Amino acid sequence: MRILWRPFGFSRRLLKVENCRITESESLIPLTWTSLIQRLSRAPRIFLLGQRKRFSTMPETETNQRDSELFSPPSDVRGMTKLDRTAFKKTVTIPVLKARKEIVSKLMRSLKRAALQRPGIKRVIEDPEDEESRLIMLDPYKMFTDDSFEKAELSILRQLNVNPQISNYNLELTYENFKSEEILRAVLPEGQDVTSGFSRVGHIAHLNLRDHQLPFKHLIGQVMIDKNPGITSAVNKINIIDNTYRNFQMEVLSGEENMTTKVRENNYTYEFDFSKVYWNPRLSTEHSRITELLKPGDVLFDVFAGVGPFAIPVAKKNCTVFANDLNPESHKWLLHNCKLNKVDQKVKVFNLDGKDFLQGPVREELMQQLGPLSKERKHSVHIVMNLPAKAIEFLSAFKSLLDGQPCSHELLPTVHCYSFSKDANPAKDVQRRAGAVLGISLEACSSVHLVRNVAPNKEMLCITFQIPAAILYKNQTLNLGFLDLLQRIMKNHLLNARGQMNPFQKKKHKLLQSLN
Ligand SMILES: C[S@@+](CC[C@H](N)C(=O)[O-])C[C@H]1O[C@@H](n2cnc3c(N)ncnc32)[C@H](O)[C@@H]1O
Repeated sequence: MRILWRPFGFSRRLLKVENCRITESESLIPLTWTSLIQRLSRAPRIFLLGQRKRFSTMPETETNQRDSELFSPPSDVRGMTKLDRTAFKKTVTIPVLKARKEIVSKLMRSLKRAALQRPGIKRVIEDPEDEESRLIMLDPYKMFTDDSFEKAELSILRQLNVNPQISNYNLELTYENFKSEEILRAVLPEGQDVTSGFSRVGHIAHLNLRDHQLPFKHLIGQVMIDKNPGITSAVNKINIIDNTYRNFQMEVLSGEENMTTKVRENNYTYEFDFSKVYWNPRLSTEHSRITELLKPGDVLFDVFAGVGPFAIPVAKKNCTVFANDLNPESHKWLLHNCKLNKVDQKVKVFNLDGKDFLQGPVREELMQQLGPLSKERKHSVHIVMNLPAKAIEFLSAFKSLLDGQPCSHELLPTVHCYSFSKDANPAKDVQRRAGAVLGISLEACSSVHLVRNVAPNKEMLCITFQIPAAILYKNQTLNLGFLDLLQRIMKNHLLNARGQMNPFQKKKHKLLQSLN
């Protein structure tokens, strides 16, 4: 057989190299370093990469270009819409190093850089020619000749009496050996964006395919299932979430139709039907951020609770939780998850519209929590409103929600209200909109947390503030108006020459503080 040196990745049709064969008589054991090299260079069927310069017939640039295609699936899979795994078979030439089997594991520790790293490909294989030896697969992008070994690697080879001579091995690649991105890049139209990313929700891969990917949707779904252990169903979002219950309209692309799944988030378990409720794995940090803010004994009202990712961790901290969701399916799974996580005694669950929840159970509980006996209380009250598209509108339910004497400032409930913003200054925008609903300015008395970037120029934010007593309690706005007027009059007329407060101003200042 006439052998021309061809670079890796060179077409199978042009390069005909047999699997590395070293005959018994040319066994590597126990030859010395120099004699090994001499003997190997005489071996007729071993394709010696050291001869590269002598036999090369191709310019280097072409070599590199072909090398980059080495681990690409065969070109004829382009345009495939129904997955045919057998069409992904391909033979590639891989550099190998022969070593005695008893030193292989020791050797591998020193060849981490040089060894081949591919999913599903064994780095050490039996030597078909010599059962006392093994072949170590090397990275074809790094290893060309024995010169490709680094000094430290060569020294180990020398110590272990291993010949650094690299040979070739014809390796058959199959569908199993390609990564999902390589498969999709080979199948989808050239130059088009290939997204192999998805959100994982239990056993479900949740994709968000673009228009040009739709003709390949079933294939893409199947590849996601094949390449991601534990994923048995792939779904595609078919609209933006704009329905009341914030669940996705979805199409099952491949795999199981069953959408009832189980997920772990921050060490809690949640079960639900993903086709009927809202679940977003990207909110786990936000769920734990809010949970961290509450202390044992605190009270949480979760107005748009979903299946419980705020309510359950907070209840586990020994807090009292009132959790509500309008979606009967969310309500059902919320009850289920409270039991599953053993907090059903700590969570009162409701199935109401957010406004009715605030004006009913929340009002009733706040009247008790913040009533005359509240002076002895040390616990905080938090209200979480995670319905970013609409929650700000629900803030109006706090206006004059309570009657009676206002509680002290530190007992006033803290609201965490979520919103989207496309504004150039999203924090200011949210403060302005929330303030407008309440009829006050929130700029100086609220903080805004950036939760996540939802889309280009669209942020999800959380505004946190204590509801002023003047808003929460009936008949307080009148007082506030009166005091405001008083304040302006005093500012203009009553400041003494040195700009200090007179006793009347001091009294007014105290009064204002107690109302806020
Ligand atoms: C964005 S999800 C948030 C769920 C959960 N808090 C979380 O962080 O994953 C909003 C939830 O509000 C519920 N919802 C929508 N409109 C509602 C309303 N008017 N009153 C109460 N709940 C509502 C939806 O069913 C959904 O479960």
